[in-house]
Amino acid sequence: MLNKKDLLGIKELSLEEIILFLDTAAGFKDVIGRDIKKVPALRGKTAVNLFFEPSTRTRTSFELAAKRLSMDVINFSVPTSSVVKGEGLIDTALTVQALGADFIIIRHTSSGAPYLLAKHLKASVINAGDGTNEHPTQALLDAFTIIEKKGDIKGLEIAIVGDIAHSRVAKSNIYCLTKLGAKVRLIGPPTLIPDKIREMGVGVFHNMEEGLKNVDVLMMLRIQMERQGKGFFPSTDEYSRNWGLTSERLSLAGDNVIVMHPGPMNRGIEIVSEIADGPNSVILDQVTNGIAVRMAVMYLLSGVKR
Ligand code: CP
Repeated sequence: MLNKKDLLGIKELSLEEIILFLDTAAGFKDVIGRDIKKVPALRGKTAVNLFFEPSTRTRTSFELAAKRLSMDVINFSVPTSSVVKGEGLIDTALTVQALGADFIIIRHTSSGAPYLLAKHLKASVINAGDGTNEHPTQALLDAFTIIEKKGDIKGLEIAIVGDIAHSRVAKSNIYCLTKLGAKVRLIGPPTLIPDKIREMGVGVFHNMEEGLKNVDVLMMLRIQMERQGKGFFPSTDEYSRNWGLTSERLSLAGDNVIVMHPGPMNRGIEIVSEIADGPNSVILDQVTNGIAVRMAVMYLLSGVKR
């Protein structure tokens, strides 16, 4: 049993808790592969997606996960809500809770927003990405996908490439993968990899060709176009020349390397289509596995006994 109301970050999870989420997700992966993909586990409960930032994968897969668990789901529309009249985050969440939400799934531009809500709410709060801080369910679905493809994570050489400084996906993955025993290295320009990050127990490479050697898992990150022009790199062309994943570069990695990307992808910038759609890519498996992982998260946070 999990003794937690909220899932805020991977940083706060023990190894045993991470393994419990992953093992429970494996059971739910079987469920979503059946003709009848629903179980009554959380019938009568309500989940609300409270997204203050755009999302395709996370919001949709939380909605599907809740429906597969027989919950009612509301997709709260921030642009047409009283948020635009100035209603604050806590008042908005308290209102949603008063309407009957058992789970509030929040994505917010501000790091720490889910932690603030968790202190004020009886409902379970799930962090679906907060600023540049964490995206815990992405890291769990990435770990689940690696185990599915590689059998185990312990001892694997895993590279995360790109904009580490602004990536909540990278941070959650560093916490998750190092706790699970992987050797994690970060690859990218010095402007996008803060020096302090070495304290998280990772290696750092500022040369793509060097960094790719003997890698078992390659996790490419999105270049955040919205940050272009802020001087982190001169141009997307130059970024692509130095850090983009091409077939030639992929051949430097280990045999049977798998290529991951949390999405959305900038094809032709951080990854070429030939690889994104090629035999080493597990990018769409990550998306599919997100449903099982998010089912496991809501199920375990609910405290319902099997
Ligand atoms: N990986 C991820 O968070 O994608 P979305 O922004 O589409 O949810």
